[in-house]
Amino acid sequence: MKIAIIGGTGKEGKGLAYRWAKAGHAVTIGSRQLEKAQRIAKELNTENKEINLVIGLQNMDAAKQAELIVITVPFAAHIATLETIKDAVQGKIVVDVTVPLVPPKVSTVHIPAAGSAAMEAQAVLGEDVKVISAFQNVSYEKLMDDKAQISDVLVCGDDPEAKNLVLQLVADAGMKGFDAGALQNSIVSEGMTSVLININKKFGVHSAGIRIIGLEE
Ligand SMILES: NC(=O)c1ccc[n+]([C@@H]2O[C@H](COP(=O)([O-])OP(=O)(O)OC[C@H]3O[C@@H](n4cnc5c(N)ncnc54)[C@H](OP(=O)(O)O)[C@@H]3O)[C@@H](O)[C@H]2O)c1
Repeated sequence: MKIAIIGGTGKEGKGLAYRWAKAGHAVTIGSRQLEKAQRIAKELNTENKEINLVIGLQNMDAAKQAELIVITVPFAAHIATLETIKDAVQGKIVVDVTVPLVPPKVSTVHIPAAGSAAMEAQAVLGEDVKVISAFQNVSYEKLMDDKAQISDVLVCGDDPEAKNLVLQLVADAGMKGFDAGALQNSIVSEGMTSVLININKKFGVHSAGIRIIGLEE
């Protein structure tokens, strides 16, 4: 699948790019700066010879040529970033990974006016875009380590077909995904990240995650 990762030069986006390129997807790193996108793509290709070739483009060009677009930018840049790619993503699936953290109080849940970051994305991009939320509880440090015990992934969205496709991408990235219901439910996965930040602090770790249990019954 042709996947563009907007803000893919950052920690979380680069990790997801690695996982999907390893699974054979055609991944494009998006950035505000072409040169930066190309540099990170080259780093990924050079450091991981076994992965499918990753390319780098400016955010708008990356979004234009992709079938599915992933957003991994800080919440402060969320709306501005969505506006720059709005035209390029019409009719497509957008996976929002954004957590509405408001520094310095990142261990306190912040609820945006729209209800959640994912709902905000839906409002900005319009009803022709299938917004799905996922990966908010997956620490970037675990993404670059194939052997790490990694968080389960809650996937929220209103389009069942798009949600199933994203669940497949979660599996391709080596994680266990769960259909967590409507896009409105994304506030729980987004808020859970602040809860995990508290747990990280308490235990002196960086990558606490979640695990869904009780499925054997
Ligand atoms: N880090 C994690 O472990 C983790 C885990 C789960 C969810 N998340 C969420 O994923 C998102 C990205 O996290 P991250 O840690 O990868 O962030 P990051 O490394 O700080 O930033 C990601 C990218 O966003 C772009 N960006 C940064 N500031 C911007 C601004 N003011 N305007 C426009 N673009 C800007 C930059 O790309 P360019 O300069 O190349 O344009 C940057 O490389 C956040 O919403 C975060 O809460 C992160």
